[in-house]
Amino acid sequence: MPSLTSISKKMAETANLVLSPIGLKLSRSSHDWGDVSSFIPFEQTIIEAKNSGLPLGEYIDARQGIAGATQAVIDEMKRLGVFEQPLHTILEIGPGSGRYLERTLRECSPERYEIYETAADWAAYLIRTFPVLSQPTDGTHLRATPASSIDLVQAHKVFSTVTFVTTAGYWCEMDRVLKPGGYLVFDAMTERCLPPATIEAWAGRGIPSHSSYPAAMPSEAIEGFFSARQYRLVGSFLSPMPPGQTELFVFRKSSA
Ligand SMILES: C[S@@+](CC[C@H](N)C(=O)[O-])C[C@H]1O[C@@H](n2cnc3c(N)ncnc32)[C@H](O)[C@@H]1O
Repeated sequence: MPSLTSISKKMAETANLVLSPIGLKLSRSSHDWGDVSSFIPFEQTIIEAKNSGLPLGEYIDARQGIAGATQAVIDEMKRLGVFEQPLHTILEIGPGSGRYLERTLRECSPERYEIYETAADWAAYLIRTFPVLSQPTDGTHLRATPASSIDLVQAHKVFSTVTFVTTAGYWCEMDRVLKPGGYLVFDAMTERCLPPATIEAWAGRGIPSHSSYPAAMPSEAIEGFFSARQYRLVGSFLSPMPPGQTELFVFRKSSA
């Protein structure tokens, strides 16, 4: 039987065959997963995206071997009704390159889009590129944002990188800043994302053992926490996060 390593090598070879016509090549990331607050290397990623001829967000999806995955998440958020009501204010934690931010702005025109991003170079790029307000961040709180002031709070692929206490603190903060009736969208690597073969694949990824990434979280804890705070689970679905998956949750806060 072929080993997981040989299967993933074969997958990378096949992906490179698909990507080579557009000038892309999958390679071991030079990203230091021991420091999750800095995100992927800024200048290198911008240059590689430019050379590929693809928009940045599409380049990052393609490089990760998940072309179309970001748009698929936005499409599902749309199907679940997130963009049906006017979104005057949006807050995103850890937008990174802005691949979700950019697509969110295609769906609505908020008066204010706040970001809390610990990677200073990426935050500076985002304020140069999009109509967003970068808030000062200590990596744990949303202090610059008043209570009950935001219509949509989102965080993509952030809670699988930070520690449990950071996630727990952000959940309390997200609840504080969200308006009654507002939407909360985030993902976590739940038990549904961890079949045995995926656990083995993560083990072989070469991530330093002291890294907080990838962090797992039981779906029961997520649903229990927000249900206790009067949120309704509108829907949840899986999205790729190589070498496995992550589970997206869309909650709506009670308007009472
Ligand atoms: C895995 S990346 C995901 C980026 C982006 N959301 C995406 O999916 O393309 C995690 C992002 O969260 C940021 N980040 C890490 N720790 C953070 C923290 N404590 N508070 C806010 N942002 C953080 C990183 O700099 C990075 O931009």
